[in-house]
Amino acid sequence: MKHHFYVTTPIYYVNDEPHIGHAYTTILADVLARYSRMEGVRTFFLTGTDEHGQKVERAARAAGITPQEQADRTVVRFKALWKKLEITNDDFIRTTEERHKQVVRLVLQELYDRGEIYRAEYDGWYCTPCERFFTEKDLVEDLCPECHRPVERITETNYFFRMGRYRDWLVEYIREHPQFIQPDFRRNETLGFLQQELNDLCISRPKRRLGWGIELPFDSDFVTYVWFDALVNYISAIGYGVDEKRFRDWWPAVHLIGKDILTTHTVYWPTMLRALGLPMPRTIFAHGWWLVGRSKMSKSLGNVVNPMDMAEKYGVDAFRYFLMAEMALGQDAEFTEESFVRRYNTDLANDFGNLLRRVVSMIGRYRDGALPGPRNADEAAKLLNDPDVESLRAKLMLAVEGMERGLQEMRLDRGVAGVLSAVRATNRFVEHSRPWDLARSQKHAELDRVLYVAAESLRVTSGLLSPVMPEKMAALRRALGMKAVDPKMQELRSWGVLRAGMEVVDIGPLFPRVVTDDEKADGTASGRSGRSDRGRGKRKNSTSGGTKMENAREDESREEVVTYDDFSRIELRTAKVVEAERIEGTDKLLRLEVLMGEERRQLVAGIAQHYEPDDLIGKTIVVVANLKPAKIRGVESRGMLLAATRGENLRLLTVDGEIASGAQVR
Ligand code: MSP
Repeated sequence: MKHHFYVTTPIYYVNDEPHIGHAYTTILADVLARYSRMEGVRTFFLTGTDEHGQKVERAARAAGITPQEQADRTVVRFKALWKKLEITNDDFIRTTEERHKQVVRLVLQELYDRGEIYRAEYDGWYCTPCERFFTEKDLVEDLCPECHRPVERITETNYFFRMGRYRDWLVEYIREHPQFIQPDFRRNETLGFLQQELNDLCISRPKRRLGWGIELPFDSDFVTYVWFDALVNYISAIGYGVDEKRFRDWWPAVHLIGKDILTTHTVYWPTMLRALGLPMPRTIFAHGWWLVGRSKMSKSLGNVVNPMDMAEKYGVDAFRYFLMAEMALGQDAEFTEESFVRRYNTDLANDFGNLLRRVVSMIGRYRDGALPGPRNADEAAKLLNDPDVESLRAKLMLAVEGMERGLQEMRLDRGVAGVLSAVRATNRFVEHSRPWDLARSQKHAELDRVLYVAAESLRVTSGLLSPVMPEKMAALRRALGMKAVDPKMQELRSWGVLRAGMEVVDIGPLFPRVVTDDEKADGTASGRSGRSDRGRGKRKNSTSGGTKMENAREDESREEVVTYDDFSRIELRTAKVVEAERIEGTDKLLRLEVLMGEERRQLVAGIAQHYEPDDLIGKTIVVVANLKPAKIRGVESRGMLLAATRGENLRLLTVDGEIASGAQVR
């Protein structure tokens, strides 16, 4: 087991307000920090802001304020966003703070005294947006190799860090430590970069060109290059050179970064640390980009996603969930509001929310809000003699292991998917056990078992997701009557933690379904699902939604009712029969060709004993349009028609009057 975990985000520039990319790295770090605490590992989570340099100076000039004012104004936005997003950072470092500047000066002086920094004439190409120098051969078609913008030729005296001398050592180190740069393809990218000669790093800017930075301790005509200043935050925040014990206590770190800042973190930073005689970071993990649709997010395209708006509109936890579930770490991911809503409705409103509603309302209805089931560990263990219960428990344990593996491999998306699959398995378990029938036939012990097992599943799955959705999962655990709303991993690996008699509280829908604009236009969503709550669970502060959230209070535990969500997944459409014939070798089946709007489809229907093929031509019937295609007697059927049957009698459902084919049936 790791004995401690120190995790960092990049420190963000204060030239502009935070966007979804910044939010992503910070939420990721938060989720990892929360899991680590859950494992009982001592954890330190650092984020902060990068406040010096040209970018900030320029933004300040454009706004007609000083760079410090620019930083002070923007940092508030970052801090407010982290608060809103439930970020549990242990420290927030600003590079304009004295505690940081002091360490930067100390590092510079130390390296200067040791001859690692020297003064020389420099002649090179400078990219202002990237704030980096490049040599002639670095340029790509005379443009900056990083951002592809024009570069300026600059000749001036500067200070240099002897980075070049560490190339061979660094290559060796990277090769021998596969965990050092992750994912693999990013490691190869850095190794590729290191194939060429590694230049020394220019670490100063003459004050006459840039005033906004930390003055070099050995030459007051210069300020420190912003990257050299910024990277030091990772050690200044934990007391390097000031509180040695504290520093040794936390270092080395796991650095989370975006792929845009790979070279600075995997080449500049390790060589700086090496020159200082410090251990290397444990891991530098570079994630991909959030794209908006297929495009890069940019102010000029006007497609920048504001995380505050998303959190306001859909809830913080849902936003956190989407970001973690959707991005395969390392790869780019696409953000669209549509995909957000789709995932929200499927995973959270339907699968997860549904399970909670079922459990809570049935315990309310059948057991007056008190959890039935085992009173001690032995009784809980006995439940596992039932193969269905044991198989569900095994699935839950798979979800626990899957999450642990996901964390090790930095594939949180897989960990989260594993939990959702356990949730779905539990929903199937409930459906298959038919508790409403058990209640009707007074099979008390069996009913209690089903309710208890489903509640146990909620305990484990909510615990596993609590680092991702801390507030909602805590609410859920409170609803189950649990006091320990901040779970420990050990608890999640155990079976039978809930005890009979715990007070189960109906807190209303945890994830109110989001009604899409399409559904609104159809007038199909609200109003239909608002079944009154008949459960006797004690209802507390229902989280009724805003304009977009529908406060659906289904109570599908009543007999075999389905929710409106369930029903609305079935797409019923009108279809006009244009061809019909018997299928050879059977006396029951007909092959039909129908028109549904523009679409022509083939169906197989077991109605040959009730209708002559010719009688069907021209009829407008009703078809389940989204049924999974199936082959019946070798003939593909893409949909199913609806008919009323009683005994031997069968009559097709048709439409009363004229309506276009392909019309929705509701
Ligand atoms: N100040 C430097 C970092 C210094 S660290 C010692 C910097 N700041 S930044 O404000 O530009 O933030 C860059 C980081 O923001 C990326 O590395 C990444 O973590 C995050 N993201 C910014 N845009 C992003 C996306 N579109 N998608 C995902 N994350 C991205 O660079």
